[in-house]
This record gives sequence, structure tokens and C-alpha cells, in this order.
Amino acid sequence: MPNPSARGAPVLKAHQHVREMQEYQVSPERPGIKLRLDLNESTTGCSPRVLDKLNSMDARTIALYTPREPGEKLVGDFLGLKKEQVLLTNGADEGIDLLCRAFLKPNDEVMVILPAFDMYQISAQVAGAKVIGVPAADDYAFPVGAVLQAINPRTRMVVITNPNNPTGAVASRADILKVLAAAPGAAVLLDEAYFDFYGQTMMDQIGKIPNLFIVRTFSKAYGLAGLRLGILAGAAEHMAALRRICSPFNVNAFAIECLAEALADKQFVADYVRQVVASREWLQRELESLGFKCWPSQANFVLVRFAEQRAAILAALEARGIALRNRPDCAGCARITVGTQPEMEYVISELKQVLSAKTSAQAAK
Ligand SMILES: Cc1ncc(COP(=O)(O)O)c(C=O)c1O
Repeated sequence: MPNPSARGAPVLKAHQHVREMQEYQVSPERPGIKLRLDLNESTTGCSPRVLDKLNSMDARTIALYTPREPGEKLVGDFLGLKKEQVLLTNGADEGIDLLCRAFLKPNDEVMVILPAFDMYQISAQVAGAKVIGVPAADDYAFPVGAVLQAINPRTRMVVITNPNNPTGAVASRADILKVLAAAPGAAVLLDEAYFDFYGQTMMDQIGKIPNLFIVRTFSKAYGLAGLRLGILAGAAEHMAALRRICSPFNVNAFAIECLAEALADKQFVADYVRQVVASREWLQRELESLGFKCWPSQANFVLVRFAEQRAAILAALEARGIALRNRPDCAGCARITVGTQPEMEYVISELKQVLSAKTSAQAAK
């Protein structure tokens, strides 16, 4: 076959900014891993009521396109919002992406507080926007002064992750309100993916503050990461615009059918959150007593500084079947998803063995 480029025909290429992007790094399937603590998933799974619903689904339900709207009514009632203020999404990731597609054009600025969840950068770059990273303040505190100072007429989006991933730090309501007021021409994306572990929200401001958007997910406390279900909430007129660019059947039938059970089983979520919060505090104390610095976290993970031992510890734990998340953007740090107390006790006992094996190896030199 003749080569079309040889005849001077144009050669197909993705946009330059897309070709220059980094791919989101998902760990490959690792058969030896018994405890996955690298993606902030639930370690115990979803509510049995959701599982029963999944098991009861028949071939006909699966054969049909499932409308999203009844689910949006359910979520609206659950959150105290109108269904017009809610969009169900294919995970929170899709909500982030839709916002970027609807509000950003090339060279617009998106402000992200560093260290941050990677998907903001990816979705902003797809839209051709420029990501402006504002480093967190000391001890990864929310840098409200620096954010307010960096807002300018090109700022079209400000992302606040509350609690933040990977640090677990939170921004106060007063600081979030200041940012919303300082950037009326920008979409302020408040990512509340870890809300259930924290308990504080700005959802009551939806409909009152026009530039506020809130993202939530069922992937964490609800244990439904595999179903891919998220919520994007905002002022009804903006949500109408987002609905125009959203695929009509973006959320799958399983997720929509299970939503009512997931929302109804409040006890399940409350029990899991209680376990995680208790074992998070325990894990943090144990890590600190081993000499590793941790930061206070309001989410289902802990950021810990292993310093120069990081690579060795991550590799040794992985060899023992435990995956933690390396965070090269936080000097010497790794992020540990918090699960149940027995799981955290297992992690600490394996870590102690790794450390004592290292000490004995050093002594033998
Ligand atoms: C801060 C934050 N936002 C959004 C997401 C994506 O959630 P989902 O699984 O709903 O796409 C994650 C997942 O880790 C996250 O940490």
C-alpha cells in the first residue's frame, strides 16, 4: 500500500498538548498483592444490599439503556438539592472532565493546590488549559493567602480538594468562601471525594453561590469504585450546560439500579467510616512510634514520610503482598489507604519485620 505521507497527504496526529501529556499511572495487575492500599478503595467492599440488587439484575435490564434522571432525583433528595442541580457521572473523574470541557478553553488558567490528585491536570490539559500549581503551605495546610494572590482574570477554574489527596489536609469553610468570592469568573471545583470520612461539606451553598461545583464519589466509603458512580452538583443553569455535553447514558445500568440501595444503607457507610477513622488514628500513632512523620488526615489514607528508606520499604512490603502508593511529589513520602483495624495491624507487623530485617542486614555488614 502506498504511504499517504509520501504523497504529501496530511499525517494524522493527536493535538500537540495531548501528545505531550503524561498518562495516569494505574498499577498493573499484580497477582502477589493481597492487600491493595494504593488507590484509596474500600478494603471491605460494598453494602450487602447493593450486592443483592446486583445479583437480582436480569438480562433485560442489562439489554436496555438506563436513564439517569430517576437517579438524579434520588441523589437530589439525599443531598437536599433539586434534581436540576445534580448530574450523575461515570465516577467523579467524569465530573471533573465535564467541568473542564464546559468551562475551559486553550490558555485559560486552572489553579491546583500541590500536591494534588492527578486527574485535574489531565482533564485541564485536554482542554488546552494551563495548570498553575500553588504549593501547599507548611505541613501541607491549605495556602489560602497564596491562592487569593494567584487569582487573576485568566483564572477560569480553581480546584480545592477537601480533604486533599494525598495529604488528608482540609480547607476551612471560611477559606473556601474567600476563594469563591475572589474568583467569581472562575468555576471553583470543590472535590469532596473523601467527604464521608470528614463530615463537613459546602453542599448547602449549591444554588446560592453560582461559581461553586461539588464533586462526590461512591468509590470510597460506599465501596463501589468498580461500578463507576459519581456526583457533580452545581447551579441549575450551569448543570443544564453540562448535561448538553454529557453522553446521555454515561452511567451504566448496574450503577443506576444500585443507587437507591447504596443511599438507603446509611448504617453500612457509617460503620465502615467509624472503623476507618479509628484504625487511621491507630495507624498514625504506630507509624510515629516507629519514627516516621505522618500528617493529620481527615480521609481514608495517611501520608507518611519514610524518607530515604521509602524505595526499600515499598519494595519489601510489595514483596510481602502489600501495595502502598509512592508519592514522588511529597519528599520521601508514601500514601497508605486505611482499612480495618486487623488490616492495619497486619501492615504494621509486616513493616516491623521489614525494618528489623534491614537492621540485621546492616549489622551483619
Ligand atoms: C480527590 C479525588 N477525586 C476524585 C477521584 C476519582 O473518583 P472516582 O472513582 O469516582 O472517579 C479520586 C480517586 O481516587 C480522588 O482521590
